[in-house]
Amino acid sequence: MNNKTNKKILLASRPSGMPTLDNFEIAQAEMPQPQEGEVLIRTLYLSVDPYMRGRMNEGKSYVAPFALNEVITGGGVGEVVESRSDAFQPGDIVTGQLDWQLYSVAHGAQEGAGAGIRKVDPTLAPVTTALGVLGMPGLTAYFGLLDIGQPAAGETVVVSGAAGAVGTLVCQLAKIKGCRVVAIAGSDEKNHYLTSDLGVDAAINYKTSTDLRGALREACPGGVDVYFDNVGGEISDGVTPLINHGARIVICGQISLYNLERQDVGPRVQPYLLVNSARMQGFIVTDYAARAPEGIQQLGQWLAEGKLKFAENIVEGFENAPQAFLGLFSGDNLGKQLVKVAD
Ligand SMILES: NC(=O)c1ccc[n+]([C@@H]2O[C@H](COP(=O)([O-])OP(=O)(O)OC[C@H]3O[C@@H](n4cnc5c(N)ncnc54)[C@H](OP(=O)(O)O)[C@@H]3O)[C@@H](O)[C@H]2O)c1
Repeated sequence: MNNKTNKKILLASRPSGMPTLDNFEIAQAEMPQPQEGEVLIRTLYLSVDPYMRGRMNEGKSYVAPFALNEVITGGGVGEVVESRSDAFQPGDIVTGQLDWQLYSVAHGAQEGAGAGIRKVDPTLAPVTTALGVLGMPGLTAYFGLLDIGQPAAGETVVVSGAAGAVGTLVCQLAKIKGCRVVAIAGSDEKNHYLTSDLGVDAAINYKTSTDLRGALREACPGGVDVYFDNVGGEISDGVTPLINHGARIVICGQISLYNLERQDVGPRVQPYLLVNSARMQGFIVTDYAARAPEGIQQLGQWLAEGKLKFAENIVEGFENAPQAFLGLFSGDNLGKQLVKVAD
């Protein structure tokens, strides 16, 4: 491997407010040498995810912060090019938390303590699905909606951030469960995809709507039974007054607040929960780590049966990973945002 060159992307500075390209630095890196039990991986795809914004801050959220001037890590798919682990062979396609490098090493334990990566079967579905519908976003949609939202046939489910990696899947899972689905997203093109391709019943463009609350009332004449919240802020302020008795509000993400420099104070939600005997619950997908195989199996089955579609937005080139990440906050992506690093 010594004839190959390596590159890495570092956190160069911590953002205040909206991150910029200056917060990242692309640098040459040494070619890592796998130790006993480790594998050398050639990165094929990197995933950019909104939660990574929290890791750019100094304080701890639910994942440790990135260290300054250290390589960024995130979800990725790669090919094993050298193995010092019994569990992997050169040529295996793997997924897990990878360094943002062209080549990186990972621990090669298949399961248990120290397990960093798992094999991906490229004959089942495109390998990119390990970062989307058959990976973290898929499990987030599956457990968040079905376990916490508990949608029943005929109920109305509202989904914010509906055209993203998690949102597109939540919309479809709610349709599979026989619900009326109302989507909120940031462009007419996205909303056309949601209604025409995914069968969503109504879609609202929150960027062009001059009366979001009115549009929501019109789209939800029978009120809201489940609200799957990916964005928070004013969009959620518009949904809460419409909840029905026994409604479930699933707090999956609050992307509209991630870049605020001062904490946001909005309308109080407790009165709505009180008078409707409603429930609001946050969750982190790793809460469901022990049940991940169940989720992957069911999502894979729906995918194979054609009941589930997935959209991907793929940016080409390792150097473009920071820009792809920033694009999440301006809504550049329809479906899962990925970066293609190598064939
Ligand atoms: N709880 C968990 O374990 C878990 C796991 C994964 C993801 N999440 C959360 O779930 C949400 C979706 O994640 P994802 O990976 O599927 O990302 P994503 O939806 O694919 O990408 C982010 C999308 O958010 C929308 N957005 C950006 N800024 C916004 C704003 N100020 N107001 C409203 N919408 C905004 C954009 O779409 P528009 O064009 O519609 O604006 C953008 O495409 C995020 O909040 C994320 O943090 C939580």
